Amino acid sequence: MRRKVIAGNWKMNMLPGDAIKYIEELSGLVKDTENEVIICVPYTDLFYCISYAQDTNIKIGAQNVHFEDKGAYTGEVSAEMLKSVGVEYVIIGHSERRQYFCETDEIVNKKIKAALKNGLKPIVCVGESLEQREAGQTENIIRSQTKNAFEGLTDDDLKSIIIAYEPIWAIGTGKTATSEDANNSIKAIRDEVSVLYGKEVSDNIIIQYGGSVKSGNAKELFNTSDIDGGLVGGASLVAEEFSKIVNYDK
Ligand code: PGA
Repeated sequence: MRRKVIAGNWKMNMLPGDAIKYIEELSGLVKDTENEVIICVPYTDLFYCISYAQDTNIKIGAQNVHFEDKGAYTGEVSAEMLKSVGVEYVIIGHSERRQYFCETDEIVNKKIKAALKNGLKPIVCVGESLEQREAGQTENIIRSQTKNAFEGLTDDDLKSIIIAYEPIWAIGTGKTATSEDANNSIKAIRDEVSVLYGKEVSDNIIIQYGGSVKSGNAKELFNTSDIDGGLVGGASLVAEEFSKIVNYDK
């Protein structure tokens, strides 16, 4: 049985003071869950969140990483730097990075390799745009994004990876894919992983759904056959609301 993994993505929100209060509040609210709880925070909150999440069941992730080890890349942060402050997870290939920062599948692939090399666990995002969906290309797009992201990775690498299926049209829009639609897309991604790595790897890999997940729809989404939890943006900004998503099965 695959575990459920619920990850928050704060995006560019939360100053350290608010981040500390949030972690203190959330840790009490989710202490009894068997689900895995991750919060992906801005770089400037990492140190504080990691300190305050020690001795709790909350794990801390970053939202981006550079693919080079070091060097003249002003403003960038390497995987080794993230690891050095205690980061465990890192979101890679979020659609906002692909859209606003020109991240291609090739860059996503390089970032995954850099993260794995340094012992970070990537949360790899794939998902189609509204245009692609309307043109009937959803399955092709998510299969090819998955294949390209994992180019050159081994079965063993896949054990450290989480995939997040995030249809772009559902992110921050209040529009959620129906649980059936989301489950079907996730089945297609799982099948692609099976084609590339075989059934055992595909049966075990965690694939989340992301896009307007909230406490009101989490249960329906997470109770499907293939959705293994969620990557939650807006609804992760308030500890109480996020805790209800984590505790969807209570
Ligand atoms: P949302 O964002 O929950 O606000 O739609 C999800 C995401 O971008 O990861």
